[in-house]
Amino acid sequence: MQIAIDGPASAGKSTIAKLIAKKLNFVYCDTGAMYRSVTLLAKNHNVDYGDSSSILKLMNSHRISFVNKEDGQHVMLDDEDISDEIRTEEITNNVSQVSAIKKVREELVEMQRNMANNINIVMDGRDIGTTVLPDADVKIFLIASVLVRAKRRYKENIERGINTPLEKLKEEIAARDYKDSHREISPLVKANDAIEVDSSNMNIEQVVDKITKIINENK
Ligand code: DC
Repeated sequence: MQIAIDGPASAGKSTIAKLIAKKLNFVYCDTGAMYRSVTLLAKNHNVDYGDSSSILKLMNSHRISFVNKEDGQHVMLDDEDISDEIRTEEITNNVSQVSAIKKVREELVEMQRNMANNINIVMDGRDIGTTVLPDADVKIFLIASVLVRAKRRYKENIERGINTPLEKLKEEIAARDYKDSHREISPLVKANDAIEVDSSNMNIEQVVDKITKIINENK
């Protein structure tokens, strides 16, 4: 069974998708982490975020993978654990540019389809229900207002010792929404058959319950 969870930045997709995967004993795949890893690869090699041919070469000579550890899923670049590094502001603010490159998307989409082949999986991203897994059994489009998402990111940042003003976070989230939904290839759009869930006024548990109910109804 394949479950696709799409939506804009900071809507809570990965938190929710992880919990649902755990509850159902499904594999979890965070596709945003894959685009972030490619962005980090460019940064580490001083490659311009718009230089598609150099980025492609780097992708072909390095391996991005996931490993499950006791404290959750870790993202690996070759043998290096990059789970924290891919969440820095530098990567967050430049990943939209890298993820707009056609060839980068083609390579990652192929990897994602291979990962989802014949297994029970919850995959989250922007284009899972529209492009990666158009035949997914359940498609969720998770949204929340810009203010709610900025407040969530603010709280997360504070926990990690980063103090970015809320106004700045709101601007960054709105800018990323714009870039992600206006790019030429696989922009962020709700699939026709996706069910929209607005988490603005719900806590994590309520969102998980709501989506689990939708999954059970569509089994
Ligand atoms: O979900 P996230 O914030 O970790 O995603 C990081 C970026 O990656 C996001 O700005 C857009 C891009 N992305 C994408 O283009 N397609 C996906 N399936 C997942 C993420």
